Amino acid sequence: MENYKLFINGEFVDAASGKTFEAIDPGTEQPIATVAQAGKADAEAAITAARKAFDSGIWSGLVPAARLAKLQDFADQMAQQGLRLAATESMNAGQVINLAKVMPLLCIGYARNISHYAAAKFPWEEEILASGNAFGPGREFIRREPIGVCVGIIPWNFPMLMAIWKMIPALATGNTVVIKPASYTPLTALILAEAAKAAGIPNGVVNVIPGSGGEVGKILCTHPDVDKIAFTGSTAVGREIMRMGSATVKKVTLELGGKSANIILDDADMDLAVEGATYGTFSHQGQICESGTRVLASSKIYDQFIEMFKKRAEALRVGYQMHPTSHMGPLVSKEQLATVEGYVKMGKEEGAELITGGKRAEVQGIKGGYYYAPTIFANVKNKMRIAQEEIFGPVVCVIKYDSDEEAVAIANDSIYGLGGGVFSSNTARAERVARGVRTGTMWINNYHIFSDFCPFGGYKQSGVGRELGAAGLHEYTQVKRVHVNYAADRNTNMNFALMSDNKKIEGFSYNCPTNVVGGHGALSSIYKEVTNLGCRRALILTDPGVRKAGLADLVKNALVDFCVGIHDKIPPDPDLESVDAAVEAARELRADCIVSVGGGSVIDTAKGACATLKNGGKANDHLNFLVLTEPQTPHIAIPTTAGTGSEVTNAAVLTSKGAGRKLFIIDTHIMPNTAILDPRFTMTLPKGLTVSTGMDAMTHAVEALTSIMSNQICDGQALHAIRLISENMPLVVADGKNEKARLNMQIAATMAGWAFTIAQVGLAHGMAHTAGALHHVPHGAACGIVLPKVMRFNVDHSADKLALVAQALGVNTKGMKERDAALAAADAVEALMKKVGHPMRLRDVGVPEDGLMMCAFHAIADTADLFNARPVSDPMEVLEIYKQAY
Ligand SMILES: NC(=O)c1ccc[n+]([C@@H]2O[C@H](COP(=O)([O-])OP(=O)(O)OC[C@H]3O[C@@H](n4cnc5c(N)ncnc54)[C@H](O)[C@@H]3O)[C@@H](O)[C@H]2O)c1
Repeated sequence: MENYKLFINGEFVDAASGKTFEAIDPGTEQPIATVAQAGKADAEAAITAARKAFDSGIWSGLVPAARLAKLQDFADQMAQQGLRLAATESMNAGQVINLAKVMPLLCIGYARNISHYAAAKFPWEEEILASGNAFGPGREFIRREPIGVCVGIIPWNFPMLMAIWKMIPALATGNTVVIKPASYTPLTALILAEAAKAAGIPNGVVNVIPGSGGEVGKILCTHPDVDKIAFTGSTAVGREIMRMGSATVKKVTLELGGKSANIILDDADMDLAVEGATYGTFSHQGQICESGTRVLASSKIYDQFIEMFKKRAEALRVGYQMHPTSHMGPLVSKEQLATVEGYVKMGKEEGAELITGGKRAEVQGIKGGYYYAPTIFANVKNKMRIAQEEIFGPVVCVIKYDSDEEAVAIANDSIYGLGGGVFSSNTARAERVARGVRTGTMWINNYHIFSDFCPFGGYKQSGVGRELGAAGLHEYTQVKRVHVNYAADRNTNMNFALMSDNKKIEGFSYNCPTNVVGGHGALSSIYKEVTNLGCRRALILTDPGVRKAGLADLVKNALVDFCVGIHDKIPPDPDLESVDAAVEAARELRADCIVSVGGGSVIDTAKGACATLKNGGKANDHLNFLVLTEPQTPHIAIPTTAGTGSEVTNAAVLTSKGAGRKLFIIDTHIMPNTAILDPRFTMTLPKGLTVSTGMDAMTHAVEALTSIMSNQICDGQALHAIRLISENMPLVVADGKNEKARLNMQIAATMAGWAFTIAQVGLAHGMAHTAGALHHVPHGAACGIVLPKVMRFNVDHSADKLALVAQALGVNTKGMKERDAALAAADAVEALMKKVGHPMRLRDVGVPEDGLMMCAFHAIADTADLFNARPVSDPMEVLEIYKQAY
């Protein structure tokens, strides 16, 4: 008789206690080998070896390709041992030789497939291009790293395959393993250890220690040096393993019991269904966790099915497992035989109808052996214990049902959810049923089919996690996120600034890719711009006012045959539905680019539409900050008002009815590709709008200059924008046809747009957003009214910048103290507003006095405030400013 030893740290050794036990052939009840019996000391030695090997990096530190090479050698060594593995598996586990002979092939195939996948395709490192955190920019990536020491606790039904299902994904991902085979079936795992040693897998990486679950299993599941347990076995033991592992929070994957439903629909091919039920239940004597042990047969075919199934079961040959003609061999042990006999007795007592089997099977020429006849219970009710509890033997319950829905309900009436089948000649119908069953695997017109790349595992109390495929590899890795700061300077870190009095952000990233074409007649460039973008089907987006002014048609003519239509339904302060309507028009007309002709409302709608056209779905899907990673649908913007700068900014401001306020898309990728500043497009803008949109641009410029994000590039743009507005706004108010002044206003708006896209805005915007959302005050008008008050509020935090604003506004600051010059800037803004006829008080634009408090509470939470020169955290201070502006 052969003598098998423990495999610890690359050596075959006796148990520390010297104890051995016998491995039995369940077909003859005769001993076939002696095996060293691991105890506490051996389990600890194996864990220590695995820990040391893992921590040394001898395996975990290899590149995946180097591990692949070793695992391919391992597969070759298994192949060399193929016959011995198959014969030993058959003799020790009672698998019929026809089944056992394919096990080495499955093990080798799985080892090769999964270790190659791990080396060649597994996502070890992944870049996260858009992190979803606009305030912590940087490179973000994740690494997948091994977990550490992984224990595999192996069941007795498929000892070799289950050991490989645990070892290969663990090893391929860099872990070390301690394998504990079941006491009944320890042999093939030890042959696998020989193969691992022969393949040169480093010492300590693989350890195999047969021993009792009670003693060895307990140490493996509680030892602090073990990081993960992968277990296949009964749900009762799985629960205990989870409990034991919880003290040290081990990762667990559990592949547990089942009571799977194999559903025979009334349209099934009967011969096929009977074969599926036979193979699905009686293969390996029913000792397979996902066996279809509840056959649900439609009442329409029930009697016919029972008759055929009985006949088929009675034709199965139960015999010695090594005999090539045996269909079924013995159960694994005396205990398992007793369990099966107990359940059969219970089934009869519960009132199920035993139609065949129900007794031990005699095998000619053999004395002893744990053989049991294939057993069918008919007229089983799903509530019976034989239908609810896992028997793990050749016993099947046939349950009658009337409709597909009832079949699904019965299938789901179980604490388990591991496997299942549907037999039907209508695949669509079978799929509908399969979708309804809450289980980890469903086979249609088939059973017991496992595939290396297809995940296997349980719903409900059938398990945790998955084996096989990519999902199985993920179970043996943990995810590490690595963030690399974009600008490693303490003064560029907005989060660190939360705990500092210095809020100013020093670093910046200037990315404003819009191509700007400006001047009288700039519109003519549009034809060329469309072709530069690779487009030929432009849809014009505009609003009714702009259309009426003839501006959209001007563009249509310039586009010649590149225009596929005009959508002119965009309202002021557009909402998400406005974007969806524009998208629908673009989709209908198969537009490949958007030309927006209008103010901020139209341009922002177009930005939302371009993101939606590119990414699909609805506008609501795309409201977010900095999550786009590639160019959007091409967009040419032609601004017709004097203020938003939206033609070059990274913002789309869209009202969400769901949120009850304006929300944003903020993203570099929504900046229009081209902006055309042609003064002819603003000549028709009425005086009131000219002034309010002009003050919108002024507010952008002043706030970009004073913001905590301000920088020299944007300062230059902002200051020049302020100069241009202060000089030209009175001119365009005096004469709306002053083309030069109109162009200068457009240029100012664009420059202010660039400035605030990078340097951000501040409290005036926070307050204007709120007045707009709660009281429909036009954005520019609200901005203008609150701007001078906010400038005064900020005076001690940005006196230097505000003094520059004063100069840009034409104030002679010579001899003035910086603070006085700053205050003079606010006065100058008010003087300019008065001069051009801008509304001066919130009461003049429809804000009720008793609404101010609510405005203050909303405004305090506006994103724009984050960038204000002076920290804004007291709603009463904001209320005070609203009152001053009232
Ligand atoms: N994306 C950004 O960077 C940004 C910046 C600031 C404001 N906004 C948003 O822009 C919107 C406001 O845009 P807006 O101020 O440009 O106004 P608007 O686009 O709402 O237009 C206002 C009105 O002016 C009319 N109009 C526009 N141009 C005309 C012309 N040349 N002749 C005759 N009538 C004309 C329009 O028909 C409309 O009725 C708001 O929703 C605001 O939140 C966006």
